[in-house]
Amino acid sequence: MTEHFLVRGGARLVGEVEVVGAKNSVLKLMAAALLAEGTTTITNCPQILDVPLMADVLRSLGCEVTLDGDTATITTPAELNHRADSPSMGKLRASVCVLGPLVGRCKRAVVALPGGDAIGSRPLDMHQNGLRQLGAHSEIEHGCVVAEAEGLHGAQIWLDFPSVGATENILMAAVLAPGTTVIDNAAREPEIVNLCTMLTEMGARVEGAGTSTLTVEGVERLRPTEHRVIGDRIVGATWAFAAAMTMGDVTVRGVNPHHLDLVLEKLRAAGAEITTLDDGDGFRVVQDERPRAVDFVTLPYPGFATDLQPFAIALTSIAEGTSMITENLFEARFRFIEEMVRLGADARTDGHHAVVRGVERLSSAPVWASDIRAGVGLVLAGLRADGVTEVWDVFHIDRGYPMFVENMQKLGADVRRVDDEPDRA
Ligand code: EPZ
Repeated sequence: MTEHFLVRGGARLVGEVEVVGAKNSVLKLMAAALLAEGTTTITNCPQILDVPLMADVLRSLGCEVTLDGDTATITTPAELNHRADSPSMGKLRASVCVLGPLVGRCKRAVVALPGGDAIGSRPLDMHQNGLRQLGAHSEIEHGCVVAEAEGLHGAQIWLDFPSVGATENILMAAVLAPGTTVIDNAAREPEIVNLCTMLTEMGARVEGAGTSTLTVEGVERLRPTEHRVIGDRIVGATWAFAAAMTMGDVTVRGVNPHHLDLVLEKLRAAGAEITTLDDGDGFRVVQDERPRAVDFVTLPYPGFATDLQPFAIALTSIAEGTSMITENLFEARFRFIEEMVRLGADARTDGHHAVVRGVERLSSAPVWASDIRAGVGLVLAGLRADGVTEVWDVFHIDRGYPMFVENMQKLGADVRRVDDEPDRA
């Protein structure tokens, strides 16, 4: 791909930005539609590359899917194809979330191993162990996760780590497994709560959403529903970091500020003034002075999200003082730092720690996005660099950010998408 962004440094971001539904929620809600025969409608869907990819996956399983603006309509047949091996499977991580619903409904599944951001090894052992405890046999064969069960039953399941994906897959199988399932050390992310709310609307019996213990009473069947995706807290936080880095004044609408309590606290420590909107549907970030150094530690929710780690590095790279960033979830997520060093950042890693000494100003250079958040982190850094930074492989960004360039320009940033296909040059 030769499409890239040109980012001219120096602008102060000012204005209001609207955030729509969360990528890491909508894709799982689309998978959950497999659990009930009939038509499920999902609203407030973000217009990002991953949504049509997930739609393709569902079509390959026998569903009819229409995407119209911010609404996805999914009609699930009585009989599902249990083999998920469409080419789209390898283009996103969330495709693996059809595994639980297929095991729940069909008692068997052959699911091609997922793709998605190359930020670490990302095994599926906890997904498989959970399904095994529900009564399924599961192996990895020919590049697919294969799971089969004569019958499912409730179980007491302990997760080694509060994995988002494993919690979602086990939950979506357990809702149709006779008996009681308890998932302990479950993930607590707001996207998990949103999934539990939708499953409950479909007739599932789930308790403990948002806590470390989910209790599920299996039911015989579920019904389709209409459900709204929660605002994307990761996108909302992106604009907050952009405001702090450019000493701007940005109002973010469409996100529950309480989904970002710790994040906003960290930005306050960096010197930002943050107020919640009266209607609770967002917040305002004003940064008057050069940000101060702050330490960050990535942890499962309600800890500081690993998806915001590149923004923490971008912010601390121009802050006053030295910061320590600790990455506890994805061992390869510090790859981002290699590109930041091209922009003049003074950052080095040692295992899962990074030390970042803030510099007055970064300097522009050609850089490459290696995943969604790293790509956006490079654009934020480019806003604080002398000259024009070229950010390449921006398709990563389009996977997770709707209208990214348009929103940047609306806030006063000089960011342009260019495509200089050689034959059109
Ligand atoms: C989800 O990934 C998100 N992706 C990620 O966002 C996010 O970074 C991550 O949760 C953590 O919040 C989607 O929702 C599509 P995990 P997921 O299972 O489900 C290990 C973005 O930028 N693990 O919670 O894959 C794993 O290797 C993306 O939007 C196992 O060891 O994350 C990791 O170290 C990037 N075995 C840790 O757990 C397993 O079976 C957390 O992974 C499962 C996970």
